[in-house]
Amino acid sequence: MSPERQVVELELGHGRGSRIEIGRGLLGELDLPDAAALIVDGQVLALHSERLPPSWGPPRIGLPAGEDAKRWGVLGSTLEALAEAGLDRGDRIAVVGGGAACDLGGLAAALYLRGVSWIACPTTLLAMIDASVGGKTAVDLGQGKNLAGAFWQPGQVLADIDFLATLPPEELRSGLGEATKTAMIAGGPLFQLLESGAQALLAGDPAATTALIAECVRTKSEVVASDEFESGGRAVLNLGHTFAHAAERVAGFGRLPHGVCVAAGLGAALELAGHLWILEDADLPGRTARLARELGLPAGLRELREMSGLDLNAEALRAAMGQDKKRRGGGLRFVLPRGLGRVEHGIEVDERSLAQVLA
Ligand code: GLY
Repeated sequence: MSPERQVVELELGHGRGSRIEIGRGLLGELDLPDAAALIVDGQVLALHSERLPPSWGPPRIGLPAGEDAKRWGVLGSTLEALAEAGLDRGDRIAVVGGGAACDLGGLAAALYLRGVSWIACPTTLLAMIDASVGGKTAVDLGQGKNLAGAFWQPGQVLADIDFLATLPPEELRSGLGEATKTAMIAGGPLFQLLESGAQALLAGDPAATTALIAECVRTKSEVVASDEFESGGRAVLNLGHTFAHAAERVAGFGRLPHGVCVAAGLGAALELAGHLWILEDADLPGRTARLARELGLPAGLRELREMSGLDLNAEALRAAMGQDKKRRGGGLRFVLPRGLGRVEHGIEVDERSLAQVLA
């Protein structure tokens, strides 16, 4: 197989799972005689309609761009459009777009006729390495993000990297922030891939990009296969996310790219692990910070404040965490790294250590 095209299988038992293909020109080659509907991010439709295969005639169900897609009203109108088009249980739904489109489209697939199969066609780096893999689907509620959803695995994921050519640089960096998180979970080789390939990745080199996505997807698939419904170990995928979600919430959702906040959250998680004396690799914070800067990402909360120019003060961040940290038992528990490839969930954290990191 060409280094510019790779396949990863996510196997979940009982014949369930996803075949994940990564490479150039994948969408154009897709032959879908039985695909009866295409749910597509409106912005992608405007920018890339020529990439959608001609066999995909109507119905095309357009979604609002970005997080605006993840609303009850959009879910309802999408389901009604599927019913209007007369889709039956044997038909498939293809979803083309970023993470929000995949979350909404996957949930529509989970609900329509109590579940039809779907193909995820992610168009952002972030969605290729995270949202399209693992079957988490959701809409947002007034009370918070992703509060209503289902685990519903796509049978196929097509990560067509040609879509990344029009991705704004900040969105590319956002994907690389999430990739850095995945590399910390995976351990040395993936982290080294990022370190040695940083410039090629920023320049959009197809081989480097394909290799990175494939390795991230392999890591995520292993984690998901061991705990599909997040009763335990899958939580490691949330490394850096408590800090990231707090920053996103304080900034106002949509103002800061998610993966950029994850990069800052990784720095904060390493700092917190240091305060708790659980960090076994003293070089890791410096090494991670160097990588973040090479990728044009913030290495911690202070750099996120500087880069964004936003007032992400400690009190506001701590208050925002109160809404995220959370319903289970009241105590503060974090996902933290002990070293590369040694990430643990459920680590108890005291307020004083947390305050030092937020300051
Ligand atoms: N994005 C985290 C997960 O899929 O579990």
